[in-house]
Amino acid sequence: MSRITVYMTGGIADYKAINVIRDLEKVGHEIRVVMTKNAEHFVTSNTVAALTKKLVLDDLWSKENEASIPHVHLARWTELALVLPATANFIAKMANGIADDAASTTILATNAPKLLVPAMNDQMWNNPATKRNMTFLKQCGVKIMEPAVGMLAEGYAAKGRMPEPQEIISWIEDHLNEHKILAGKTIVVTAGGTEEAIDPVRFIGNRSSGKMGIAFATEAAAMGAKVKLIYGNVTVPLPQDPKIELLHTTSSEEMLIAVKKEFKDSNILIMAAAVADWRMQQVADHKLKKQADQQTLTLTLVKTTDILHEVAHNKSKGQIVVGFAAETNDLLQNAEKKLASKGADIIVANDVSKNVFGNDEDQVTILQTHAPAEKWERMTKQKIARKLLQFIAQKYSVHA
Ligand code: CTP
Repeated sequence: MSRITVYMTGGIADYKAINVIRDLEKVGHEIRVVMTKNAEHFVTSNTVAALTKKLVLDDLWSKENEASIPHVHLARWTELALVLPATANFIAKMANGIADDAASTTILATNAPKLLVPAMNDQMWNNPATKRNMTFLKQCGVKIMEPAVGMLAEGYAAKGRMPEPQEIISWIEDHLNEHKILAGKTIVVTAGGTEEAIDPVRFIGNRSSGKMGIAFATEAAAMGAKVKLIYGNVTVPLPQDPKIELLHTTSSEEMLIAVKKEFKDSNILIMAAAVADWRMQQVADHKLKKQADQQTLTLTLVKTTDILHEVAHNKSKGQIVVGFAAETNDLLQNAEKKLASKGADIIVANDVSKNVFGNDEDQVTILQTHAPAEKWERMTKQKIARKLLQFIAQKYSVHA
């Protein structure tokens, strides 16, 4: 999440800016606000301060700012400067380096990327001076959102209206995502356990909770990736994030089909699901009944396809495949064997004999071909996911 400084300049769209600020805070961004004196004709600084629970910077010369240099502190703190709404006057000041109030001075001192959401009368928008100022700002790397066409405060429809809060939020998020390490990448993650039917009411399952796979999915989305989460039986809530597509599968066969289909055009596969190695040779089409004299039951199982092996051995150049090795004994030897046989670029080995299922933490060892195994300290599954994805993004050039 980012530290965003919102610059409110004077226009009727200031009342909509309040909703944008509230929504940006809701998704976890930290917000500070700078207001021009003209903005305060439309919305009071008290309203904004109550909303953000932070003092609003609107005067460099006020008593409480006497001993500090508030514009420089704020400029350094800022990761993203958002001018919302941006008037023609403020755009002109920015383009010409004018610093004659708190807002223009602070933005001039800011190095962070700058986004402008203009809202003004259509004549002002089309004025050659405004156009020239915007062309210059764009050349300097400032991003400017196109105003919407719609009813202006003047009572007629034209270009100049501030877009709706939701559109502004997605535009800002798109910009923030551009700078994330997995932006533009698609990642397929599998999570949870498969279920192999015995009869219409029973199945062979396993103890996987889905936590590790879900941690990879949420971390990858936070790093800007588009995620396809193929999940089986999970015991924890699924993420609700527009960047994470949820695809439910039941059997290993269904998961195999889904992984092959989704990975074809993706960059990375994280095979965190616990896939059954065996399925019924023949699934009973009715509930199996026990007989009065029956003491044992024999089920004939046949091997399932090893999804990781199949996909890793057929991957394209540039695609990265990560597998797991769940072991209860001889961790390293078994994991080394899986690295050699499965064709994965990375194997994450973990000892599942010790309270791993459903736990928030795990201790893993990372194995790669032509590199020594790396034993990581015990940490949360979320942190393991973050660390491994950062490592993948840095080490491999993942082609979109
Ligand atoms: N895996 C898979 N398809 C299978 C079985 C396993 O894709 N039919 C994947 C798992 O998702 C994991 C890796 O293979 O990424 C290793 O799984 P694991 O259960 O540790 O090992 P197995 O290959 O099943 O071997 P074994 O049970 O003999 O340890």
